[in-house]
Amino acid sequence: MNILYPDLKAKTILITGGLGFLASQFIKALEHNFCKVIILDKKKSNKKNFFYCDITKESDLKSVYRRIKKKYKSIDVLINNAANNYGAGSKLTELRLENFSDKIWDDDLKVGLKGAMLCTKIFGSEMSKQKLGGNIINISSDLGIISPDNRIYKKNFVKPVTYSVIKHGIIGLTKYTATYWPKKVRCNAIAFGGMKNNQDKNFIKKIQKLIPMGRMGKKNEYNNVLLFLSSNASSYINGTTIVVDGGRTIL
Ligand SMILES: NC(=O)c1ccc[n+]([C@@H]2O[C@H](COP(=O)([O-])OP(=O)(O)OC[C@H]3O[C@@H](n4cnc5c(N)ncnc54)[C@H](O)[C@@H]3O)[C@@H](O)[C@H]2O)c1
Repeated sequence: MNILYPDLKAKTILITGGLGFLASQFIKALEHNFCKVIILDKKKSNKKNFFYCDITKESDLKSVYRRIKKKYKSIDVLINNAANNYGAGSKLTELRLENFSDKIWDDDLKVGLKGAMLCTKIFGSEMSKQKLGGNIINISSDLGIISPDNRIYKKNFVKPVTYSVIKHGIIGLTKYTATYWPKKVRCNAIAFGGMKNNQDKNFIKKIQKLIPMGRMGKKNEYNNVLLFLSSNASSYINGTTIVVDGGRTIL
């Protein structure tokens, strides 16, 4: 069940990677709170309030920003959620650090870190000039706090180094942003643990052993923290990382 925050009704919220798996849950919860959600993604869509945009390209972002500015009064909340999520379907030889390619490193960091920084630069700058300021939420991971445990994955998989670097980096970007326009823009991160989503049974068995609550997150267990951080209910929370992981990172 999603909590209702009355102040969200008046807010316009922009989410990057808005056509992805987690974003679809977030958007439902936000729309249930009657806020306007603007979606940016590099996939195509006919959804309302959708803007095609590759967030790694500053020129794309600037042109989308101009179109958004004409159409909407303000952006109150930016959610940096987009990710390249390199790894699935790749060969073990390519995933291993010994062979990790420059190109994959660049492509992954371009979306996860540069993209988040560019969105912060463009939309955060605008927020810093708004009368009511703004609010940025960065999506990190439990693996932005601890290392992946490569023993839990299938034999032919290791978590790519870029995932750790991006998710730790996002927490750094959060702290930097939180102190950059502190009177106008607050910024926080959410470190989600893995959500259950038809993963391999063996993997689920192994990861559950690393989580004090003994299970992965369920679809509806990630939304409320996002709603809370988006709303004025969290108005004095700035620069922190809220961990939603069943306790995995405290072990
Ligand atoms: N799924 C999980 O269990 C989980 C757990 C912890 C953290 N996360 C984090 O949550 C966020 C969302 O994860 P997800 O599982 O929904 O991923 P996803 O792959 O389903 O969605 C990512 C979206 O980002 C978009 N995207 C990629 N590159 C882009 C670009 N250059 N410009 C614009 N859009 C781009 C993709 O098209 C896609 O729609 C990610 O940051 C991920 O690391 C996910």
